[in-house]
Amino acid sequence: MKLLVTGGAGFIGSNFVLYMLREHPSYEIINVDALTYAGNLENLHTVESNPRYTFIKADIADVQQMEAVFSQGIDVVVNFAAESHVDRSILSPDIFVRTNVMGTQVLLDAAKKYQVTKFVQVSTDEVYGSLGATGLFTEDTPLMPNSPYSASKAGGDLLVRAYHETFGLPVNITRCSNNYGPFQFPEKLIPLIISRALNDEAIPVYGDGLNIRDWLYVEDHCSAIDLVIHNGQSGEVYNIGGNNERTNIYIVESVLEQLGKPASLIQYVQDRLGHDRRYGIDPTKIRTELGWQPAHNFETGIKETIEWYLKHQDWWTRIQSGTYQDYVQLQYGKR
Ligand code: NAD
Ligand code: DAU
Repeated sequence: MKLLVTGGAGFIGSNFVLYMLREHPSYEIINVDALTYAGNLENLHTVESNPRYTFIKADIADVQQMEAVFSQGIDVVVNFAAESHVDRSILSPDIFVRTNVMGTQVLLDAAKKYQVTKFVQVSTDEVYGSLGATGLFTEDTPLMPNSPYSASKAGGDLLVRAYHETFGLPVNITRCSNNYGPFQFPEKLIPLIISRALNDEAIPVYGDGLNIRDWLYVEDHCSAIDLVIHNGQSGEVYNIGGNNERTNIYIVESVLEQLGKPASLIQYVQDRLGHDRRYGIDPTKIRTELGWQPAHNFETGIKETIEWYLKHQDWWTRIQSGTYQDYVQLQYGKR
């Protein structure tokens, strides 16, 4: 099996490349990544000389570059490549449309032309919008994206659906809740708390801190996608989540406590524009139809994650320089 992983140098993509090389000793993986600020080949240094692994620096929205990749013969595509950070989409929506919508369309055209056997679109629960105090997102929940990020992901999802309906392309769409774990860029909440707290910097909490996210350890997301590749019914959507809803303030307080840092670092700041109040995934379909089970519970997963960031301070301090500083300046003002 020749597997094309796009965005494999990012957080989830790099965890997925490592997971698939380990779990499937006969698979060949081609990782295509444009190496934006979020792409980091250091995540994959342990496999760079593995003969079953190839890296190609390329942009999924570039037709010629994708033609060159697909003409090598690809069996399955898993599309992780995206602009992924909501706050950045509020500052500059254009790049989100280019990569998440147009990039997906370029990939779909190539997948159709070269007749791949499966195209998996890695999407997000954010396309469903925001929940009230009760209820969960099912695969039948209407799409109601609220941020430029989630709107661009929903646009990509709709194109994937359309290529299935119109051209018969064998596809799946997965919609996962918030991931955490090793190699997550420190703009995202959990690594942001850890990296700032270790520097005794204020932890910005948006609004009242009572927004709810449904957290899943990244490797459990990888195992779910693995099952979808092999057993997902063509044309179907699968929601992925581990029933781990937590308020943001709970996450901040518990990470600070585990780091031995004071709650006085917490700083309530202006709310994110269009901030979704609550996400919660109903994972019944993937559990019952594909037999997926998460292997990590939140308490052990977060403990392991904190230990990873403590052990790999060189990893995140290196990426906290350069362009990331420009973003931090724009987003939070002076640090
Ligand atoms: P990330 O930002 O860490 O990684 C994205 C990767 O895509 C980077 O390596 C980047 O270089 C690459 N990339 C960006 N634009 C590209 C382009 N034009 N061509 C090729 N490569 C490009 O993101 P992540 O958190 O790992 O998310 C991966 C995917 O999973 C995204 O599609 C995201 O929407 C989805 N997702 C993320 C989460 C989460 O909690 N992080 C949850 C559900 C779904
Ligand atoms: O739900 C899946 C989504 O999870 C993915 O599709 C996105 O790619 C991923 O970035 C993530 O989106 P969120 O917006 O939920 O994640 P983020 O880590 O940015 O924020 C988590 C919550 O914490 C959110 O309610 C906003 C809040 N927050 C975030 C930051 C960065 C703060 O209060 N302060 C912060 O500084």
